Amino acid sequence: MVKKNVCVFISGYGSNLESLIKYSRDYKFPINIKLVVCNNIYAKGILHAKKNSIPYLIIDTKKRSYESKILKEMKKHKISLICLAGYMKIISKKFIQNFGKKIINIHPSLLPKFKGLNTFNRILKKREKKTGCTVHYVNEKLDNGQIILQKSFFIKKNDNEEILKKKTQYLEYKAFAEAVINIYRYN
Ligand code: GRF
Repeated sequence: MVKKNVCVFISGYGSNLESLIKYSRDYKFPINIKLVVCNNIYAKGILHAKKNSIPYLIIDTKKRSYESKILKEMKKHKISLICLAGYMKIISKKFIQNFGKKIINIHPSLLPKFKGLNTFNRILKKREKKTGCTVHYVNEKLDNGQIILQKSFFIKKNDNEEILKKKTQYLEYKAFAEAVINIYRYN
């Protein structure tokens, strides 16, 4: 099997990146991570790229040319899929068009519920019975593209934001990996 080259975009801790790196060590997993893009110089997630000798690009989103810089780097590494894993910056329509290939995102709620930030707090306030995570394609609207898959769990009485985050992220790692497998199984 010829593996596809993937770029992961991060802004923070990078636990989803770490998980994808682990999965990609399996020769049957359809991707290899060839590039990490990060918009935060202090992001812990960069360490996962360093430790695994994956090239990384730290971008300054205040500079107008930053998206073309990313596109140039992605061409160099023949990237065919972008995984947004906690990337806290909206991707422009122009970037999506110019890349022209698949972009997927992981979101910590059962979309279309709770788009945007601060999800766990809002989920608790709404007294939801169930929550989970969603992997979806990215389009120009926030957290709005076609859903690839979701994983869910029932919220317990004593679950707080921190616990919800832990439970959700545990599912995210599996969901992201399964979504990547699905994409290459059917395409
Ligand atoms: C994830 O929980 C994801 O749902 C959200 O941002 C978080 C990133 O976490 N989009 P990490 O950086 O992968 O640890």
